[in-house]
Amino acid sequence: MKYLNITQLTKPLSGTISISGAKNAALPLLAATILGKNEINISNIPMVADIKTLLKLLEMLGAKYSISENSVVINPLSISKTIATYDIVKTMRASILVLGPLLARFGHCEVSLPGGCAIGQRPVDLHLKALEQMGAIIEIRAGYIHARTEGPLKGAKIVFDKVTVTGTENIVMAAALADGETTIINAAKEPEVVQLCEVLSASGVKIKGIGTDKLKITGTNRELIKIEDFEIIPDRIEAGTYLCAGAITNSKVTIKKVMPKHLEAILYKLEEMGFGIEQTKSSVTILPATKVKPVNIITTEYPGFPTDMQAQFMALALIANGTSIIDERLFENRFMHVSELLRMGADIHLNGSIATINGGKELYGADVMATDLRASSALVLAGLIASGETNVHRIYHLDRGYEDLEGKLNALGANIQRYDEKA
Ligand code: UD1
Repeated sequence: MKYLNITQLTKPLSGTISISGAKNAALPLLAATILGKNEINISNIPMVADIKTLLKLLEMLGAKYSISENSVVINPLSISKTIATYDIVKTMRASILVLGPLLARFGHCEVSLPGGCAIGQRPVDLHLKALEQMGAIIEIRAGYIHARTEGPLKGAKIVFDKVTVTGTENIVMAAALADGETTIINAAKEPEVVQLCEVLSASGVKIKGIGTDKLKITGTNRELIKIEDFEIIPDRIEAGTYLCAGAITNSKVTIKKVMPKHLEAILYKLEEMGFGIEQTKSSVTILPATKVKPVNIITTEYPGFPTDMQAQFMALALIANGTSIIDERLFENRFMHVSELLRMGADIHLNGSIATINGGKELYGADVMATDLRASSALVLAGLIASGETNVHRIYHLDRGYEDLEGKLNALGANIQRYDEKA
């Protein structure tokens, strides 16, 4: 196991970094290759642990792939197995994304039921209910979802009780090979969902309402589709994290290869806190604030403020002059980073879904533990400004979603080293 050692900065960060492709766009798109009948070249894939896990799962199902730098060439035609085992699903909940496409293509599959995780219970009931409405027969036995259909899945009208990102993606993929038209009401509008729809649409699947909360998908009645080559969109959460690194160290930092439109809620909050923002079509520069103001945040679905940026903004609120409030509305237990930040001297109070952060307290370097992916990056951010040295342990969480985080921050002038844990 590895940990990161972060030395307090002695001068501001400066420079430009490139943002990688979006993990959360690449995952559903890799799963969508199950629907394809051809070899597909996908570029700008972030080589992070979650992507490697999904590639391994696709390989276990029978797909063939090769990787060169940030591109993957994948051939889904040889897929013949339909079981996503516990071993894989327990390491990555997003493995549930193979459920819709496997069922649509083969008419049966078994996917281990994802358990709870560090940020909350995270059920998949909405995925299952929607598939049942499309004619799937679903049983839960011995920790596995056993799904089958008689004939193809049938187009249906699905109304999601809650906006669910992977739930929408699963049903879009299932609907692509269904018989007839599927309507999804209250669909997720995240840019990652939009890219999935755009790629399927460019591959001949008729989809209306892309980018809205009402999608209409006309299925091919189990005919596999010819998927065109494509490039993964930039990672808006990685981009937001590096903007927070610039902000927390009051530096001028430019991130390039981004889509500023996807960052609107994040940029808005940074400006509210007093930071300057300059934008081009594909880059954003953050400029120091004269006085960092406290912030109020409510996490919500896109285009609102993303829950995946909540922990990083909590770290940032530690330098604000005054009291910030963060209301986490999506996940019931997504405050695991709070107790670690407290160990560094932060003044944060929790009451249910609401965190109150009293900014301006001196932070001290400490040994802290990463508890989930985004919590890990918040601890790194705090480590940049805490006195002395901070060691962030259990960084396998961080490696699930950030490509070379320490390399990118060190290129801006940070001093972060990766070491093996002592036995
Ligand atoms: C995705 C993202 C994750 C992000 C989250 C919210 C991926 C791979 N992961 O996760 O990074 O934090 O969106 O933006 O894209 N829910 C149910 N029943 C269900 C499904 C969801 O109750 O069947 C609830 C969840 O517990 C949660 C809310 O709906 O409270 C939203 O979750 P959802 O959008 O499904 O999150 P994920 O797709 O798992």
